[in-house]
Amino acid sequence: MIQFLLNQRLHRESQLDPNTTVLSWLRRTQQRCGTKEGCASGDCGACTVVLAEPAGDRLRYRTVNACITLVSALDGKQLITVEDLKQRDQLHPVQQAMVDCHASQCGFCTPGFVMSLFALQKQGGQGSTEQALAGNLCRCTGYRPIVAAADQLAAQETADDQFDQTEAQTLARLKALAAEASVSGTSSSQPPAGVRQLTHDGRRCLMPGSLDALAAAYLAEPQARLVAGGTDLALAITQRSQRFPLLISLNQVPELRAVEQQPHQLAIGAAAPLTDCLPLLRERIPAFADLLTRFASQQIRNQGTLGGNLANGSPIGDAAPVLLALNAALELRRGSETRTLPLDDFFLGYRQTALQPGEFITRILIPGVTVSQKEAASMPLNVTTSLYVYKVSKRLEDDISAVCAAFNLDIQHGVVHRARLAYGGMAATPARAHHTEQALVGQPWQLATVELACRALAEDFTPISDFRAGSAYRLQVAQNLLRRAYFEHAAPQQIIKVTDYV
Ligand SMILES: Cc1cc2nc3c(=O)[nH]c(=O)nc-3n(C[C@H](O)[C@H](O)[C@H](O)COP(=O)(O)OP(=O)(O)OC[C@H]3O[C@@H](n4cnc5c(N)ncnc54)[C@H](O)[C@@H]3O)c2cc1C
Ligand code: FES
Ligand code: FES
Repeated sequence: MIQFLLNQRLHRESQLDPNTTVLSWLRRTQQRCGTKEGCASGDCGACTVVLAEPAGDRLRYRTVNACITLVSALDGKQLITVEDLKQRDQLHPVQQAMVDCHASQCGFCTPGFVMSLFALQKQGGQGSTEQALAGNLCRCTGYRPIVAAADQLAAQETADDQFDQTEAQTLARLKALAAEASVSGTSSSQPPAGVRQLTHDGRRCLMPGSLDALAAAYLAEPQARLVAGGTDLALAITQRSQRFPLLISLNQVPELRAVEQQPHQLAIGAAAPLTDCLPLLRERIPAFADLLTRFASQQIRNQGTLGGNLANGSPIGDAAPVLLALNAALELRRGSETRTLPLDDFFLGYRQTALQPGEFITRILIPGVTVSQKEAASMPLNVTTSLYVYKVSKRLEDDISAVCAAFNLDIQHGVVHRARLAYGGMAATPARAHHTEQALVGQPWQLATVELACRALAEDFTPISDFRAGSAYRLQVAQNLLRRAYFEHAAPQQIIKVTDYV
């Protein structure tokens, strides 16, 4: 059973096909048709809704794409749709700002923009308008009036709305639901102890409430498909009409959502939403955080996870190159067994990984992250480890990489002591550039060395041509990115990133 609030109304659902998306549940069973379906693939933002969940003693409001969010993700949350914003005949300030600024023409994208601006407003000015709106597309109004509406809102002193007024009460209700779920889960014997279940017509979703319960459930039914954020998996449902007979949700397992600095490494829970990884990464590995802000859109980052990004084994997943360059390892669990596998050994072939049946990723471990940026900044300048991460795609945001590159260089006294270079989009899997690394290590860090390394890159990769980029283009770009790292290293103050000057 899942339990959630639709605005203020409690829903307890146990007989629901777990392949149902939040969008079709809203439109087909609740007749809430304000939330639109544009692409059904997470690209346009017309279906944006907001999920509120407890974060300490406040509620945290986040956007998601209802079209690729499965209903199991609603458990323990408050679902807010565009219908909930108006109070009696009074528009919500976000809606009023859109009207005032003439920010809607055909209106199809408008509910999605309104919900993204609503979530931005609820962050109390912490997020940026660009990031908040990057996952919403408008094909007729043009973005200027929409941005003007965002600016008007930011400048306004807004009084508490109905959500602020009922926040304490909503928070208490959600916390009570969580407490109830943990009790009902552990006392149940069918499904196994500690696992709740959503089922309909022979299709099931198991929802373990702990790591042990998850490990036992997956070992017992290794044919199940795991679902974390569902931002990859749900596309099989919406684009290829697939229906999964058995899903196991990772969303209710607290151990998989922790993001922590340990004495000598960062440990990132495999099912922590990317948005939750950002604060620590921004502090410890800023180049990784910069990459994540270009990862899909805000809606996707609020759902998608590093575990899902790696486990789907895509050659163009953005996290893999940077994690390979950082020499990350994966903590894997199968039944009661835990093992640690270097990410270097994880990708076996096109969309093939080293995961055994019934095995899953619990944490991503990034070694050697021991000092804060502030401390690192005070280290001697000629003893540096430099991380350069580049994503090349047609659009800045909400786009998949044609090529993604990450270079982790240890340059001491002008000589390359260690180089870990990794690329996505260049081969059947994300991969290290071993020949190129050899061409660099032990050599002086100068342009001539970099040119030799660029030649070695052609030995490492024979990229394919597809609709994103041609083979020759990919190779040229991959070489140019290495040259670019050289120039950035040589003149760190020089502004060469497009995001720094547009
Ligand atoms: C519009 C859009 C834009 C996107 N943009 C980008 C982008 O810019 N860069 C990018 O890299 N990706 C992008 N993606 C892909 C996707 O968002 C990411 O791959 C995301 O990280 C997947 O995480 P998830 O939690 O949603 O995975 P899910 O969809 O839940 O799972 C993906 C796969 O991994 C398996 N899995 C999940 N967690 C685990 C685990 N802990 N252990 C073992 N197996 C597991 C699942 O069974 C499934 O097979 C985009 C997707 C969409 C829809
Ligand atoms: S309908 Fe386009 S993102 Fe959901
Ligand atoms: S108003 Fe028509 S798509 Fe945006």
